[in-house]
This record gives sequence, structure tokens and C-alpha cells, in this order.
Amino acid sequence: MEQLPSARGFPTGFRWGVATSAPQIEGAADRRGASIWDAFAAQPGKVHGGDDLSVACDHVNRYRDDVALMRDLGIQAYRFSVAWPRVEPGASGVFSSTGLDFYDSLVDELLAAGIDPVVTLYHWDLPLELDSIGGWTSRDVAHRFADYAMAVHDRLGDRVSMWATLNEPWCAAFLGYAAGVHAPGQTDPAASVAAVHHLLLSHGLAVQALRVGGATDLGIVLNTWPNHAAEGAGPEVLDAVRRIDGLVTRIFTDPLLTGEYPHDVRNDLAPWLDQVVRGDDLATISVPIDWLGVNYYHDDVFEPATVGVDDGLTCGGWPYPRVEGVRLAPAGPDATDIGWPVTPAGLHHHLVRLRDLYPNLPPIYVTENGAAYDDPIAPDGTIDDARRLTFLAAHISALADAIADGVDVRGYFAWSLLDNFEWAEGYSMRFGIVHVDFETQVRTPRRSALWYAEFIRSGAALDRLVP
Ligand code: FCB
Repeated sequence: MEQLPSARGFPTGFRWGVATSAPQIEGAADRRGASIWDAFAAQPGKVHGGDDLSVACDHVNRYRDDVALMRDLGIQAYRFSVAWPRVEPGASGVFSSTGLDFYDSLVDELLAAGIDPVVTLYHWDLPLELDSIGGWTSRDVAHRFADYAMAVHDRLGDRVSMWATLNEPWCAAFLGYAAGVHAPGQTDPAASVAAVHHLLLSHGLAVQALRVGGATDLGIVLNTWPNHAAEGAGPEVLDAVRRIDGLVTRIFTDPLLTGEYPHDVRNDLAPWLDQVVRGDDLATISVPIDWLGVNYYHDDVFEPATVGVDDGLTCGGWPYPRVEGVRLAPAGPDATDIGWPVTPAGLHHHLVRLRDLYPNLPPIYVTENGAAYDDPIAPDGTIDDARRLTFLAAHISALADAIADGVDVRGYFAWSLLDNFEWAEGYSMRFGIVHVDFETQVRTPRRSALWYAEFIRSGAALDRLVP
């Protein structure tokens, strides 16, 4: 995989993929243990429409067709996650060979189709039983994760080379333990800080164990994104942006890449962080990785607000820092269905910033990027999702800009292959390049999927980025 210096384009060996996650597509909940997401979805009012994960895209029963679909689209790499409660039902310490069989067959099917499997070990579906010992607020869970990671690697490591430990610890910690809008639905700032630390620790422990097990291509996936102050904003807004940036990006990237929590974040969070950090934890967390995954959806802009009229600013709904007089700028008329702004240039600038902040930044993969749009199925059965196509093309173009600026990027994964269970939004938000009819489970590639296939087939020709 050689990098071409300063050329606008994609280096040889660049991988074009799609991503999904186990809880969002697998279904077959009766053939696995329960996760915190099953329990969360069962609580009235937590998930849109009362939707649950029991059937989802029925992927466990349909994975062969789904792999064939990817093969037909010319997809080169498939990022999927393994469900911890399928592999270790009941968090009993006993690993289920039938649970592992599913991933074994999936990997074989992918390889036979010429698609590289990329495994994420944790995409938020913590075995429910581990919640009763505190979930991610418990240090033990970090050790349990490393054991589980080894069990998966023992079974798949002969055929899977690329591994991500965690997906988006920011969401798992802050949305799950402080904002309460994700499982397990807690609203305790101290718990969320403990969760951040134990998630990072679980990553480091798993990387250490997997290395001993012979793994060579290890990374972690973060949803780090840029936060800016509106032009001309005063010191209050600038300070809020510093704090938000600390919680969104540096609280993860600094420990991983420098072996320390950022001083300002540590000050802001004292004493919560100090209570959970022990001995060699930071050395464990900063054990070298081979790649960093960046999930990019949009950037955020903050602006002055009217005190007493606008709510105080929060980070992901987290009550800290609560800053009066600062608010998130509204997304604007081109927001996607889920309300997120469309800001492709942010991807370019963010990757350049990460490179500038961390001289030891490992190669980057954009491990998720995509948009929620629900365009109608035409009478002839086609779906013209022109807005998604434009979104993807603009972000891939921004990625080409980052590469031209010298950032070492090795691959891109569109989120998502399929419409799926979009967490608290249930099935109401459609992110797939392939439409799923949840009544019949029929898959219909949207125009964006056909375009992506053509783009890959063209050898990622830049002129195809103008839709
Ligand atoms: C990311 C998640 C992924 C999906 C997308 C839309 O935060 O990793 O599972 O929900 O957002």
C-alpha cells in the first residue's frame, strides 16, 4: 500500500468499502444473549416507534444474499461488528461455538466473494449481564472485553487481518451514561467519565492481548469531528468550543496517541477522571495501533445565544459543560433527515488537523460516512437518492483533498450497506445505499449504490465525483 505524494487521487491499494454493525442488522435475537440495547429498546419511549432489534435486517439468515449483493456492487472491504452477546451469551465466561460459527461462515463467504472482512469487536451491544456489575463504569468490564476479543480472534484470526476494538466510545460513554439517549440510558456525568476511561482501557488491554495472539492490523474507530466558533464569536464561545473539542476529540486521541489526557480536559473533569485512572492505565491505552478509524458525518459550529431563551450548551446532551450564552448553530435547510448539516469540507480540514496535532498519527481509514434520506421508490422500482449520491461524492472529494495535503488515508467505508436499526431513531432513519423493506426484507440498491459501484469500477476516477 504505497502513498502517492501530493497527488489528488487515491493511492494504490486504497480500499473502498461499506460498513454495518451487528445490533443494527443481524436480528436473530433469540439465538444470542440479551444486550443493553435490547433492554433499552424495551423501555417505553426510548426508541422511536417502540422499535427493537429482534429482526432488524434479518442478516443472520440472509448474509449469503447480502454478501452476493456486495460482490455484485464491487465492494472491496466490508466492515461489520461481532455481537458480544452472541459470542458470550449471558457474559458467562463461556464462549459459544455456535455464536462464533455465524461469523466464521460470514468471513468465509466474504473471502470467497473477494471482499476483505474488517471486524469491529464492540459496536455498543454490551451483554446485559455486564450492566448489572456497572457496565462501562466497572473496570472489570475492560478485562472482560479483552477476553472476549481473544475468543473472537482465536476463531477468525487466521482469515481476518484488520480489527477495530471499539466503535465510537464517545457515543457509548456520553450518550449512554450521561445524556441517557443511548443504552444503558444513565444520566450521570461521573459515570460517563468512568465509562470513557474504561472503554479506552478495554481498547488497550485488547490490543495488548491480540498482539500476543499474533494480530497485526489493529485500530480503533472514533467519531471525532471538528467543532468551530462562528466567525467573530467572543471568548465565551471560543472557550466553549475548546471544551467541546476536548470532550469530542482530544479526550480520546490524546491518551491513545500521546499517553496522556489533555491537561485542560483533566482540569475540567476533575475529580471524576482522577478517581478512575490508575497506575499504568495510560501506558496500556497508548500501546501503538496500526490505524485510526474516523467516522465522519458533519462538523458543528457554535454561536452566541440569548441567555434565558436558548438552553445552555451541552455536549451530546451531556450536562457538562453547561455554558449559558452559547448554542449550536442551526443545521440549515440542507440538513439530512436526522437533522445533521452537510459539511464535506470538514472532513478534509479535520484529517489535516489530526495529522498536525499528532506527529505519530497512524494511517487513517474513514470507517463511516453517509446520510439519512428517504427517497420514494419509483413505479419502475428504482430509487433516485440524488442527495445521498451528492453527499457521498462531496465527501470522497474532500478526502481526496486531505490525501493531496499529505494525510495518509488508506480506505473509505460508506455507512451503510443497508437501511437498519438507527439506535434511538429505530427504523425511521434510512442510511443505506441499499433500501430495505422491513416487511418483506427485500433489498433494493438505490442509485447511490449503483453510482458507488461504478465509481469503484472506474478505479476511483475523480471525474466521477461530479454527479
Ligand atoms: C454512527 C454509528 C453508526 C450509525 C451512524 C449513523 O454514530 O457508529 O452505528 O448509527 O452513526
